[in-house]
Amino acid sequence: MENLDLMTKLVSLCKRRGFIFQSSEIYGGLKSCYDYGPLGVELKRNIANEWWRSMVYKREDIVGIDASIMMHPKVWETSGHLAGFSDPLVDCLNCKERFRADKAPRAEAGTTVQFVKGGKAGGEKLSGVVSDRGYICPVCSCPNMSVERQFNLMFRTGMGPVDPVSEAVEKLQGKAWTREELRATLDEAVRSNAVYLRPETAQAMFVQFLNVQQSASMKIPFGIAQIGKSFRNEIVTEHFIFRSCEFEQMEMEFFIEPGTQEQWLKYWCEERMRWYQHFSNDKEKYMLRRHAEDELAHYSDDCYDIEYEYPWGWGELEGVASRTDYDLSKHAAASGVKLSYFDQQKTDPATGKNGWRYTPYVIEPAAGLTRTVLALLLDAYAEDHGVDHEGNSKTRVLLKLHPRLAPVKAAVLPLVKKDGHPEKARAIVDEFRRLGINVSYDEQQSIGKRYAKHDEIGTPYCITVDGQTVTDDTVTIRDRDTAAQIRVPVAKAVSTVVDRLHAGDIAGRENLA
Ligand code: GAP
Repeated sequence: MENLDLMTKLVSLCKRRGFIFQSSEIYGGLKSCYDYGPLGVELKRNIANEWWRSMVYKREDIVGIDASIMMHPKVWETSGHLAGFSDPLVDCLNCKERFRADKAPRAEAGTTVQFVKGGKAGGEKLSGVVSDRGYICPVCSCPNMSVERQFNLMFRTGMGPVDPVSEAVEKLQGKAWTREELRATLDEAVRSNAVYLRPETAQAMFVQFLNVQQSASMKIPFGIAQIGKSFRNEIVTEHFIFRSCEFEQMEMEFFIEPGTQEQWLKYWCEERMRWYQHFSNDKEKYMLRRHAEDELAHYSDDCYDIEYEYPWGWGELEGVASRTDYDLSKHAAASGVKLSYFDQQKTDPATGKNGWRYTPYVIEPAAGLTRTVLALLLDAYAEDHGVDHEGNSKTRVLLKLHPRLAPVKAAVLPLVKKDGHPEKARAIVDEFRRLGINVSYDEQQSIGKRYAKHDEIGTPYCITVDGQTVTDDTVTIRDRDTAAQIRVPVAKAVSTVVDRLHAGDIAGRENLA
């Protein structure tokens, strides 16, 4: 399968089967906004639950929070997002494409490049010289650009019932203003009630550090975890849900003693790699990439990206950053609240006395939930090529999702809609439902088509009620990945599947056969 072909097939499957739809599709859609359908919401929730389980339930040293999306504007001023969370934006003077300068194709300064007037097919051929900026337009290859402007990625909105623009209009009316005065008055008006949609979930963990540490009596090293929506007004959105303006993150801030950051950074890189690989079929598609010195964010003294090999190449899936004491120190200075930790057991290295008060350092594994949905769907997509009983070639499409992530855990299928099959099947379904396990009762179409449908949505087990069930109270359980079937007593059907779900948790992927 060609790589980009895989992406096309996956996007189509996501819509056809109800994983992911374009937002507001009946109105033509809204760029880069997506809705998770009945299966997508289950998959996303299962991934989030597994992350939470590994971060919070399985450990004593991490607790969770769920903070509001809008925070005091001072948070973003202090964190540096208001001044610095921006991308360099330029316009191509030839085809009018607007793009990120730092992601544009590179070209050697002084060289001559060819492009077509207006970027239109069949237009007049022109040439131009690449400037000292060293890049060209990604669409038409023209080297002539507008000046670079910094574009802040935070979404701004206003809080409160007063419309500051109307007030500014009142103030401005009937007077002669210079362009600069107009700009300043409107800027001031908009800023007066401005709040921002958070561009990362992380800041809430810093500003709530003390509340969480004290209320939960946490001792360093400890972490605060959060899953939630983040918003970035991305100049370029791309590759389906890979880069969108509204997305979800799974972030954990791990507070540590200064000087221990190297060992904890290594620990979290390994833990997080293990987590992804546990839920994946192809472990080779993951790698750790250390940031070069000039790539490091202003708050970071070291950072690794966990990269995945997407159909278009290697790209970021999660960042694991050593954030030093930057955020806690900045928020402490700006708020006047001491965001520090006192360790009675430790000796203060500066004074040599018992008891050490310090500002904790932070290691941050920052994952994208929606991006992980994409990576795991890509990992799971498979095609089995074979021949049917008449010798015709056939392709079986399947999503080899880890059973714990699969949206539907089991499908219960009566072979026919009569002869007591539906009643037997319904009784099994009820047992699954009592245990809170997502199950599907499916009696439409031929059994072959039903198997094919459940392979395609990643249902790991299909339980079939057939003629033999009525005589000896046994059913078949079919394994999605191997298509192998075993026969078990009805009384053991549910527990066999439940055992498999847990076995998959401990030992990784296991097939029934
Ligand atoms: N608190 C640090 C932080 O937010 P980041 O590398 O900017 O770091 C962390 O984001 C993760 O969030 C990324 O590795 C990616 O998985 C996800 N992410 C970031 N921007 C995204 C976007 N526009 N669309 C989808 N996911 C995004």
